[in-house]
Amino acid sequence: MKEIRISLLLTLGGLLLLTSCGGHKLSTVGSDSEVEARVERLLSRMTLAEKIGQMNQISAGGEVADYAEALRKGQVGSILNEVDPVKINELQRISVEESRLGIPLLVARDVIHGFHTVFPIPLGLAATFDPALVEEGARVAALEATSQGVRWTFSPMLDIARDPRWGRIAEGSGEDTWLDARMAEAMVYGYQGRDLDSTSMAACIKHFVGYGAAEGGRDYNSTFLTERQLRNIYLPPFEAAVKAGAQTLMTSFNDNDGVPSTGNTFVLKDVLRDELGFDGLVVTDWNSMGEMVSHGFGTDRKDVAAKAVKAGVDMDMMTFGFISHLEELVSSGAVKRSVIDDAVRNILRIKILLGLFENPYVDVEASRAVQYAPAHLDAARRSAEESAILLKNDAGALPLDAGSVGRILVTGPLADAPHDQLGTWAFDGEKTHTVTPLAALRERFGAKVEYVPGLTYSRQERARFDDVVAAARRADVVLAFVGEEAILSGEAHCLSDLDLVGSQSALLEALKATGKKVIVTVFAGRPLTIGRDLQNCDAMLYSFHPGTMGGPAVANLIFGDAVPSGKTPITFLKTVGQVPMYYNHNMTGRPYNNERLMKDIELEAGQTSLGNTSYYLDSGASPLFPFGYGLSYTSFEYSDIKLDKSSYSPSDVISVSFTLANTGKYDADEVVQVYVRDLVGSVTRPVKELKGFERLSLRAGEKRSMTLTVPVDELAFWGLDGKKKVEPGDFQLWVAGDSASGAPLSFKVQ
Ligand code: GLC
Repeated sequence: MKEIRISLLLTLGGLLLLTSCGGHKLSTVGSDSEVEARVERLLSRMTLAEKIGQMNQISAGGEVADYAEALRKGQVGSILNEVDPVKINELQRISVEESRLGIPLLVARDVIHGFHTVFPIPLGLAATFDPALVEEGARVAALEATSQGVRWTFSPMLDIARDPRWGRIAEGSGEDTWLDARMAEAMVYGYQGRDLDSTSMAACIKHFVGYGAAEGGRDYNSTFLTERQLRNIYLPPFEAAVKAGAQTLMTSFNDNDGVPSTGNTFVLKDVLRDELGFDGLVVTDWNSMGEMVSHGFGTDRKDVAAKAVKAGVDMDMMTFGFISHLEELVSSGAVKRSVIDDAVRNILRIKILLGLFENPYVDVEASRAVQYAPAHLDAARRSAEESAILLKNDAGALPLDAGSVGRILVTGPLADAPHDQLGTWAFDGEKTHTVTPLAALRERFGAKVEYVPGLTYSRQERARFDDVVAAARRADVVLAFVGEEAILSGEAHCLSDLDLVGSQSALLEALKATGKKVIVTVFAGRPLTIGRDLQNCDAMLYSFHPGTMGGPAVANLIFGDAVPSGKTPITFLKTVGQVPMYYNHNMTGRPYNNERLMKDIELEAGQTSLGNTSYYLDSGASPLFPFGYGLSYTSFEYSDIKLDKSSYSPSDVISVSFTLANTGKYDADEVVQVYVRDLVGSVTRPVKELKGFERLSLRAGEKRSMTLTVPVDELAFWGLDGKKKVEPGDFQLWVAGDSASGAPLSFKVQ
């Protein structure tokens, strides 16, 4: 049951009744009971056809006239893919003024990492480990989108992903449950606002559930997650988002253990409604209802419409299954009217909470000034700066000194790619507003910059790079921008090879051979296997796809106006053959124990044992970079790490104190991470799990003593008895700058 706090606020002699529910104050449309009364009053006036019309969502990016008749008949409850405020106003006007009941539309869009001002892709935002900044970015997205009439976004995507072959790894927060949950909360707060009002854009937590575990990293493929994996790894971010007040949820395309999510009563009702207490709106993914026929889970569209609505789906995106078959299904008794009423209640409630009945229209003129506002671009630039991960910096190659730098060669297919640096799911980002690295560097260094791309696009094959090599010889420093274009990332864009595509590695080899200092920046939607390329540069920044302000951000980082602080939200692999490899894995009965690699084996007669533990003969048992990893221009030292007790009760809070010193010469941020291991459980447990993090800003030479806390109940897991609880026993705790560093402290839980 959601906590309801009624706070009475007397204003202007009137009484403005504010209610707060969960993480959010609801809109000023009244208390929960008043909202529910409004829902019931409206529901009681609706015909069955009008109710079913509310459950129908259509893509409406065409001409208004194409949809007018359906709107007048009340056959559409929501539209997506229209963002022109003039058209949205007209579509709303027809719905409100020309239909029998005047119910406004819920206008949706995939505002995934920004609307017009595009932020780093969500995987990059996760690399900031900065929920406050991520919330700020989501708020910017909501301000821009709602000013044009978009009041519902299909974000945040919460899919845990451990397979970089999967194109949509770009769209989530990586491999870790705790980080994913914090990012989910931040985006829900940012989109919806801490108070629901006219700038609130209903969040949509997706894809429910387990979509990121697609077998083979091939999108839409089957998943085979156990209930224990669902409950311990994939569901907690959704639980956190529901507690944060997320208003809607989207079902996922995958069938898990044979059951497509869009028809899965267990996850949509038993877990989502009964256990997590979600009382918002459930929408299908695009035709995911219809695709249950293809899955072989239903015989035809009528059959899967019945399965979906009975499983707990409220709104159908683009199958037209509800609008085509529900009336007949109700008449035949196959579907109860009460099921329809429950679905429509969830739809009407959102529209009331968003104030759409009071304010269905937007001020078109005013919306123009909101887009790309300076404060929005500034937030995007800061996000791009914090999302960049410094993977290598030999001999302090970076930062460069802007005052003394000579000629700068800018090269590579991503140096001046204004559309591609926006990344996937950036529908409304306009490349005319993108500032590329080349543009930013030219702005700052003028004629000192020479641009010889070498490759005009990432997949281009070239045997020689004479033009680039000659330019490198003329230059003082080489800045190379490589990676993958936006089209190689995102939905359905999966790869079986994660090396830099085309001749990009050959380009870097040619540049390295010149002996010049080579700084590589990678723009990509996933962690590519860049081990070979690391050998051919002096420093590497990994920026994922950094968005509209990627250019200024990278220029600031390269020249030291900003100091890299990003940390890997996903394990970086040596080869694609290591998939899946992630930090919070189980120990196994034979953990790797320094067995010899193939390259170290002398050619000797006969078969000898190479050690019987869990590893690869060719690439060992460790990745290229672990989760939570990232360098800085300075260095940090952890000391005096102490627990406040050696033994805790399940209701205790663990306090861990430590001293962090900035031992270098740059003021910088460090993401302090807290990991915990449960040594023995009723089921085997991960070798460590992130249970807290904090970004700390320290000046050069500064030492700071800090305390972080971890409630013991955060160590609860769903064990052999099917209950979620903290099991007594021995634990270890780390405080470190990444998941592979530091020494453990031991403690007990009684
Ligand atoms: C897509 C995606 C989903 C998106 C929806 C609407 O297929 O799976 O994440 O929100 O369709 O564009």
